[in-house]
Amino acid sequence: KIIILDFGSQYTQLIARRVRELNVYCEIHPFNNIPAFDETVKGIIFSGSPYSVRQEDAPQVDFASMTRDYPVLGVCYGAQYLAQHNGGEVLPSEIREYGRANLMFVDQENPLLAGIPTQSQVWMSHGDTIKEVPSNFRVIASTDKVRVAAYHIEGTRTYGIQFHPEVTHSTDGQVLVKNFVVDICGCTQDWTADAFVEMTIADLKEQLGNDHVIMALSGGVDSTVAAVLLHHAIGDRLHCFFVDHGLLRKNEFQEVLDSYENMGLNIKGVNAKDQFYGKLAGVSEPEQKRKIIGGAFIDVFDDAAKQIQAELPDGVEAKWLGQGTIYPDVIESISVNGPSATIKSHHNVGGLPDYMKLKVIEPLRTLFKDEVRRVGKTLEVDPLILGRHPFPGPGLGIRILGDITVEKVRILQEADDIYIRNLREAGWYDKIWQAGTIFLPVQSVGVMGDERTYEHVVSLRAVGSLDGMTADWIHLPYELLAKISNEIINHVKGINRVVYDISSKPPATIEWE
Ligand code: XMP
Repeated sequence: KIIILDFGSQYTQLIARRVRELNVYCEIHPFNNIPAFDETVKGIIFSGSPYSVRQEDAPQVDFASMTRDYPVLGVCYGAQYLAQHNGGEVLPSEIREYGRANLMFVDQENPLLAGIPTQSQVWMSHGDTIKEVPSNFRVIASTDKVRVAAYHIEGTRTYGIQFHPEVTHSTDGQVLVKNFVVDICGCTQDWTADAFVEMTIADLKEQLGNDHVIMALSGGVDSTVAAVLLHHAIGDRLHCFFVDHGLLRKNEFQEVLDSYENMGLNIKGVNAKDQFYGKLAGVSEPEQKRKIIGGAFIDVFDDAAKQIQAELPDGVEAKWLGQGTIYPDVIESISVNGPSATIKSHHNVGGLPDYMKLKVIEPLRTLFKDEVRRVGKTLEVDPLILGRHPFPGPGLGIRILGDITVEKVRILQEADDIYIRNLREAGWYDKIWQAGTIFLPVQSVGVMGDERTYEHVVSLRAVGSLDGMTADWIHLPYELLAKISNEIINHVKGINRVVYDISSKPPATIEWE
């Protein structure tokens, strides 16, 4: 495997993506918390950073044994850091270089750059530049503005590159990553979904033995794939349940429950609607609603877990809690920049209270979202579940602005059902990352027949995104929007106006609350 040392660059995850795309396993670790390397480590990549190597508080790392024992590739800050600490000089660039550049000179004899043509487009993003390098540094690529665009320290396996091979704007970036990972480090390209499934099931069997695991499923991709893996490992000793908090989409509870049963999971449906509605009555403040939903979920979980325990044979105890945590959640919580500001409290990443004393098992904690989908495909998970848009844990609770009532839930479910069905029929659903309908806390005047109406407004939202961190609204065809608007207003009693949300994230967020 490859170790990526994270110095805080926004692109670090992308480096990992590129390495994984080569079917090579890699791990990201913060520069200040590096684990002991075992014999599977074949090479190390130093990431970029928002810091300048000239800053006093710039991230530092003791790399002597790393460059001695492993091939090392420094990217941007990583390259500048290695240059500076090996006798080179890094200074602020006269012209800050951001964006596209072309390599004017490429030493194709060097194994790092084999197959990369002169003129190849690369992506730059740096305010410092490597000005001077000692005589044992060989400059292996330059642009018209940056002489030391790439270097190799002679007699070592240490390389540095000023540009970012991990972004798609660097046209031959993947060739470079492959040269480093496969040719220089000697990694074998056998990290596939099949291999992951086989290895993970074997590991789970060994780790869990005859133990029982409890798991709450959400109907989403991650928890489902995690459950199917666990089920392969321990069969019906995995006890799943799926909670209806009354904030799911139309027919969702039954449909998801059915598809879980078809997949052979040991699953129980829990109807807790009244409990959630009762606690939410009259509450409009978004964070308060989230907290109530999160809290009620823990109560329901606690009851369901107790019931599962009660049904186990005497002396047998479920000691584990299964969770669908994926790699971005893990990386986020160990980010070198510390926890970011709470924009919204996502209840399902907060975990459960300590008193439950369950040990957590997370079979997907090393995977990115699209890898989870590939693993799901290998496991023959229902394609309807694999292709589903993300849906927030608090469900329609954060898509009904203002207080939540049974009637508002019904109206929103009907409208959303029409919206999503039309997206599917028009072939748009799979092109959209996430779509949903929002119930607005306003009423507006309309006219139907000869009657004045004073009814509710819903907003349609559809966004494109890679990971939910940034998103842009989708340019749906006017004809499709017109059809959906017509159908909603004509069929859903209580709505007389439909609007379309044309905000991107940032500065807006995907959900409205
Ligand atoms: P925002 O609104 O923050 O949403 O742009 C980003 C993504 O996260 C989802 N989301 C949640 N998912 N529990 C979840 O599981 C939550 O509490 C939650 N809040 C937002 C949102 O649907 C989008 O995909």
